[in-house]
Amino acid sequence: MLIDNFKVDSPNVQYESDAIAATYNYDHTDLSQDRDGRWNVRPKTTQYEFRTSTRVPKLGVMLVGWGGNNGSTVTAGCLANKHGITWMTKEGLKKPNYWGSVTQASTCRIGNFRGEEAYTPFSSLLPLVHPNDIVWGGWDISSLNLAEAMERAQVLDFELQRQLVPYMKNMAPLPGIYDPDFIAANQDTRADNIIKGNRQQQLEHIRQNIRDFHQRTGVDKVIILWTANTERYSDVAEGLNDTAENFMAAIEKNESEIAPSSIYAAAAILEGVPFINGSPQNTFVPGLIELAVQKGVLIGGDDFKSGQTKMKSVLVDFLVGAGIKPTSIVSYNHLGNNDGMNLSAPQTFRSKEISKSNVVDDMVASNPLLYSPGEHPDHCVVIKYIPYVADSKRAMDEYSSEIFLGGRQTIVMHNTCEDSLLAAPIILDLVILSELLGRIQVRAEGQEELHCMHPVAVMLSYLTKAPLVPEGTPVINALAKQRAMLENVFRACIGLPPDNNMMLEFKA
Ligand code: NAI
Repeated sequence: MLIDNFKVDSPNVQYESDAIAATYNYDHTDLSQDRDGRWNVRPKTTQYEFRTSTRVPKLGVMLVGWGGNNGSTVTAGCLANKHGITWMTKEGLKKPNYWGSVTQASTCRIGNFRGEEAYTPFSSLLPLVHPNDIVWGGWDISSLNLAEAMERAQVLDFELQRQLVPYMKNMAPLPGIYDPDFIAANQDTRADNIIKGNRQQQLEHIRQNIRDFHQRTGVDKVIILWTANTERYSDVAEGLNDTAENFMAAIEKNESEIAPSSIYAAAAILEGVPFINGSPQNTFVPGLIELAVQKGVLIGGDDFKSGQTKMKSVLVDFLVGAGIKPTSIVSYNHLGNNDGMNLSAPQTFRSKEISKSNVVDDMVASNPLLYSPGEHPDHCVVIKYIPYVADSKRAMDEYSSEIFLGGRQTIVMHNTCEDSLLAAPIILDLVILSELLGRIQVRAEGQEELHCMHPVAVMLSYLTKAPLVPEGTPVINALAKQRAMLENVFRACIGLPPDNNMMLEFKA
């Protein structure tokens, strides 16, 4: 049963003219240890206040890498939905949808009505921007307009592309920052749309682009998301990019280790615009994180969690949670799109390898009954560029585990899917959730005033391979926990408890 229109009836929740105010009792535990080493676990309840503005703004999204496979696919997908474009294939008539987006196409359990489970669309929990209403823009170092970029991407059915061309042919990406030292040399041929000047001038240029976009489109809010090529890691060094001050000075001095992605991010932060990194490189060097925290501007990342890693963060969680010990995880990928070509260079591949490598750490650490201190499953990731398969990425994984009484279990998986059709809905969720986070204010018991959550947006973890978190915050990769965090914070904002799955009403 689907309930898409409801109000929470509780003395703890007030629906005001432009906000929902909720008082929420957060149940958690306090751990302490006696002198004799015995642990005490004390249940604790802390009161939080949430205030969520219900004024949904007109949102503009600027993509870095707008003319890439993801950029053109997400733009095309929103236009197809907005204009209700249908298209014929050999399998019959296809209609646009937002499948793959947790905010647009998934539900949450809201209760039980006369024995039947009742669900509500995720998007009905709190008022969200609708993807059809997003105004798109952005940069690309390739000058192709979005219709040409869509054709180059070879992702969408021809009949759909044909109908989208009139809407996309006048969308032209702004010139981007190109530094051949940071992406693969094989990208050189498409780089014909480039901002000139040193790093300080590039920064000013991007800042001006953001202001112009804001003004020209009349949007209320802008969010910037990096879906451009994976860059190599940049060095992090004392005096260079370790503090906000040093980072800004390094841009001024045109230091060669400041990556293009970090310049876009700095421009966004200085303009008060959230910046999300959908690729694996270390865009958010410590100085840039400090800048975002100082300015109170949301940042999030890193690296879209779309296919293989998503499966990994489900499967290993299931195995370790079941008391089974994964001992070897081997992942092969081959893909033939431009992302694959860029990743065929060792230094950009290295960024991806790092991003994919830590994804089971929290699950392994959660079960010292299986793993002794420092022990970790063998984990290897291989990516090969095979042009023929284009955007249709192949991912093959082998999971070997130790089971009962010295037995072994091997699970093999083969996943084939257009990469961009998985990534595009994730881009939507990232920007829609980031926009919402800007409207939520929180106050813990004892704090004086309502304020935004920490600028490093842990709430986006569900959507990223290597979640960026504030120092001292545990990194959670397990997908079910990440989704529960998202859903439960949404629920807290409307004064509802987490769905605890106890179903006591049917037991006592
Ligand atoms: P793509 O290569 O088709 O698109 C990237 C675009 O960025 C290109 O059009 C390129 O010209 C442009 N570009 C490169 N450097 C730029 C710069 N400095 N400024 C402006 N534009 C620039 O790649 P695709 O498939 O769209 O993927 C984009 C990124 O998302 C890649 O880094 C990829 O690793 C990452 N990603 C993709 C996933 C997926 O499922 N598609 C999953 C996880 C991450």
